[in-house]
Amino acid sequence: MNRRFALLALWAVLMAPLAGLWWQTASPDADLDALVADTGNWAMAWLAIAVVMTPLAKLWRPLARQLWLRRAVGLAAFAASVVHLWLYVLAMRGFAEPGGEWALIADEALTPGILTGWISLMLMLLPTLASNDAAMRLLRRAWKPVQRLAWPAAAVALAHMAVVHDAFSLAMAVAGIVAGLQLVRFFPATRKV
Ligand code: HEM
Repeated sequence: MNRRFALLALWAVLMAPLAGLWWQTASPDADLDALVADTGNWAMAWLAIAVVMTPLAKLWRPLARQLWLRRAVGLAAFAASVVHLWLYVLAMRGFAEPGGEWALIADEALTPGILTGWISLMLMLLPTLASNDAAMRLLRRAWKPVQRLAWPAAAVALAHMAVVHDAFSLAMAVAGIVAGLQLVRFFPATRKV
């Protein structure tokens, strides 16, 4: 299978749950708050997977050959975050006068729960834009540091998850797994016995 097609196919599979949630907004009894929460959880899941793939590949060699698929996972994390943001805008519409949702969104943008969401999305923007061969050629040595912005993005997204909806324990559990796996990067490589 051609690599570009494989990346697209994986991306489509990862986006399927988000498309399903988006679809539900068409129903008149859609619970928009629940849909915001669900899309946030998917965005968090894909972002966490994108940042643990490299350390996991160190523990499990067959994954090392598939690390190029990380690009589709990172792009899915960003796209899922955009779906999450759009559903949030729709939910805010329910609380505002017609056309007044942007003023409400601006009003709460600096509260800790929401600000952390915006910061995480902004941190994901550069690595997302640089997730292609042309950017890799253009940025050369600067490409890796740009991709590493996914780590602070994941850390801030976890803070967002912890604050925004009393999901502290779950956020700490995910943070523990993600941080624990990052430590694997510093393990010395062992020789086969
Ligand atoms: C763009 C700015 C963002 C805004 C305005 C925003 C807004 C929100 C809101 C209002 C909730 C509460 C939903 C509820 O429980 O009622 C929420 C929950 C959540 N968001 Fe975001 N978010 C943003 C970005 C992100 C990003 C980038 C991620 C992850 C990559 C993310 C992950 C989550 C998670 C995991 C939850 C918790 C879901 C739950 O309660 O079960 N958010 N967000």
